Amino acid sequence: MRRYKVAIVGATGLVGQEFIKVLEQRSFPMESISLLASDRSAGKRMFVAHREIEVKETVPASFEGIDIALFSAGAETSRYFSPIAAQSGAVVIDNSAAFRMEPTVPLVVPEVNSEDIQWHKGIIANPNCSTIQMVVALYPLHKVNPIKRVIVDTYQSVSGTGSAAVEELTTQAKQVVNGQSTTPHVYPHQIAFNILPEIDVFLDNGYTKEEWKMIEETRKIMHADDIAISASCVRVPVFIGHSEAVHVEFSQSMSPDEARSILAQAPGVKVLDDPVISLYPQSWSAAGTDEVFVGRIRRDASHPRGLVMWIVADNIRKGAALNAVQIAEEMIKRDWIHPRGRKNEKIRTIADSHGNPL
Ligand SMILES: NC(=O)c1ccc[n+]([C@@H]2O[C@H](COP(=O)([O-])OP(=O)(O)OC[C@H]3O[C@@H](n4cnc5c(N)ncnc54)[C@H](OP(=O)(O)O)[C@@H]3O)[C@@H](O)[C@H]2O)c1
Repeated sequence: MRRYKVAIVGATGLVGQEFIKVLEQRSFPMESISLLASDRSAGKRMFVAHREIEVKETVPASFEGIDIALFSAGAETSRYFSPIAAQSGAVVIDNSAAFRMEPTVPLVVPEVNSEDIQWHKGIIANPNCSTIQMVVALYPLHKVNPIKRVIVDTYQSVSGTGSAAVEELTTQAKQVVNGQSTTPHVYPHQIAFNILPEIDVFLDNGYTKEEWKMIEETRKIMHADDIAISASCVRVPVFIGHSEAVHVEFSQSMSPDEARSILAQAPGVKVLDDPVISLYPQSWSAAGTDEVFVGRIRRDASHPRGLVMWIVADNIRKGAALNAVQIAEEMIKRDWIHPRGRKNEKIRTIADSHGNPL
């Protein structure tokens, strides 16, 4: 079996550390691993499969000889280094929002659209965490009974913002309990014992960018441009695990039992749904697991063809690291690692080596 030279850009971050865990747990066929971060972490040492490895600063030469580069170091870093990595011959799987809506970049959730991997040109985008868990649950239902409209309200954990936000919630929670005042750094307001209806920047239309990502990315992944979608994305004082209340309008009426039985067979989904014993998905128990959990499935009292459900997943695993590693596994299994036409044509990346759009 062939083994691959893997690089993780952002290895010291929350997602980067989860990448290491997921690669180890799934026995990913690695020949070597390069741990890359900014100059701040250069020289730091981390363990991969009981071997101590030095973290290096990410520079253009970091990608020479690399087969697969897993990026999770923010959009700016991806915009600059991903085209360089792709030109060096690596396939980039990028966790940032930098390339997700580019028409030449596949945006992939393996349970939904793994076929899209085959037309990559050196960069594959990993969707936003809230979008991933929603489409894993909605797509199996959509295949049976096309979805017309989705209204989703999210309850997103602070780990979605990175390690600084996890620290901020920890610090503020202690301060509030001790009767001290708090000073927000990561978020515009205190997050401990509070709820913020603001994730990413506000757009001119009143939505936030996170909400707009859910709308656009869902349509691209499901190849369903005509689904009407509205989202409200909310940050809650939870460490790990995003939860979503999702209202779905189908083409035909669907009973909760039918939805439960479709979802019980769906890849990557686990149904937890028994009100009698208060069984439903919770962020606390979803943390550290791979599945997308669905429960509270019921008829929408406001629409004859509507269902309501509660969808929860670990945003660092299925919402980021696990989904990206699953893309890499699928690419290897289907022998789609070489971009189409790479032998005959120069790879058309969407930015030059300085990250400027072409
Ligand atoms: N957290 C989630 O749920 C989630 C989900 C999906 C996607 N993502 C995306 O994944 C990325 C990272 O998220 P995170 O939660 O892991 O953040 P994080 O904990 O703040 O970690 C950021 C990582 O990026 C590295 N980095 C920052 N600037 C860099 C640069 N100029 N060059 C190279 N490396 C650099 C940092 O290295 P240093 O240690 O040197 O600072 C660190 O390893 C973001 O794009 C985020 O949008 C996150």
